Amino acid sequence: MRTAITDMIGCEYPIVAFSHCRDVVAAVTHAGGFGVLGVAGRLPEELDVELRWLDEHTGGRGYGVDALIPRKVEQVGASGGHVPEEHRRFVADLLARYDVPELPADEAERVRASAGRADAMVARASELWDVISEHPVTMFVSALGPPPADLVEKAHAKGVVVGGLAGAVQHAERQKAAGVDLVVAQGSEAGGHCGEIATMVLVPDVVDAMDGTPVLAAGGIATGRQMAAALSLGAAGVWTGSVWLTTQEAETHPVVKEKMLAASASDTVRSRSSTGKHARQLVSAWTREWEDPANPDPLGMPHHSELIAEAKARIGRGAHVRGSGSEQLVNYFVGQVVGRMRSVRPARRVLEEIVAEYADTVARIERINAG
Ligand SMILES: Cc1cc2nc3c(=O)[nH]c(=O)nc-3n(C[C@H](O)[C@H](O)[C@H](O)COP(=O)(O)O)c2cc1C
Repeated sequence: MRTAITDMIGCEYPIVAFSHCRDVVAAVTHAGGFGVLGVAGRLPEELDVELRWLDEHTGGRGYGVDALIPRKVEQVGASGGHVPEEHRRFVADLLARYDVPELPADEAERVRASAGRADAMVARASELWDVISEHPVTMFVSALGPPPADLVEKAHAKGVVVGGLAGAVQHAERQKAAGVDLVVAQGSEAGGHCGEIATMVLVPDVVDAMDGTPVLAAGGIATGRQMAAALSLGAAGVWTGSVWLTTQEAETHPVVKEKMLAASASDTVRSRSSTGKHARQLVSAWTREWEDPANPDPLGMPHHSELIAEAKARIGRGAHVRGSGSEQLVNYFVGQVVGRMRSVRPARRVLEEIVAEYADTVARIERINAG
């Protein structure tokens, strides 16, 4: 296949796979798609280790990196002073009600230390690019808002394609003004942070506003029919996330993987309960508790993450026990396509099935047109 994107980033199919798991990125890249590693939350030295591994496992094919590099360095403060007592009490009470076990002392220490790491991560954000630029990364994507101007300049000087996510036409226009080479138009069906506009409505609006800058459609795409629809809307390719979470290679929590395999399209919710910003995720006792009007509202970002970091670690650990409160609470980000994720398959198979169904769909439409 050939679109503006396949030429730009050098892949066989215009199918981009976003994943936090390097094995998924490598498998998709090998199969002819384009893998992008999500690296939000990693320190520069950790990122270097991940990218070294990818260099060795992508056979010289390019891959992408999706990072959070703030426009201005702002200390988030891990002192806990921003977290109201009412919220602390609610989280402690929730963990007690669901009988969530404590963490072993060394793990609790590690989780607390990583809360303190938030400051270091923000302060060292500019070093991330220095690490990325030492690897054969062919696309850099800015995870939250337009990338800083100096970074776009440095990326372009190295021939790296720059992309940006947008959940509304105005966001896409801001990305374009910042100098990105492509825009990912991500609809509300998507897993993770998302806006309110559905992919079907968003993509053609962004394509028209971008006036030639290529657009990847994201949100609700897991099959060849959905890919055909995205290209019909004017997208030059698709950007997918959720569908890889139940692949063999994905390091998704095993209990969450099981929940995903059993879930339908109605079992996700756009909720602020996991980061403080609206993010689509599996419905669980966790999202229901935070939605209950009797309980406090989630805090903003990043204070909410600070509030719940230890709770999430405790829940993840306890969820392995069948019938436990932790099992009821555990959840993760996933989009409405979760209803299509029915079995654990290798990432290569998932990609091949998307491509095969896409070809069938195009043939079916051609037959319709032939009358
Ligand atoms: C588990 C998960 C984590 C995500 N984390 C990020 C992230 O760190 N940065 C980012 O740009 N997008 C992130 N996203 C959004 C994806 O990049 C992508 O836009 C979205 O998954 C596409 O919709 P889909 O889930 O319906 O395939 C995440 C999505 C999921 C499912």
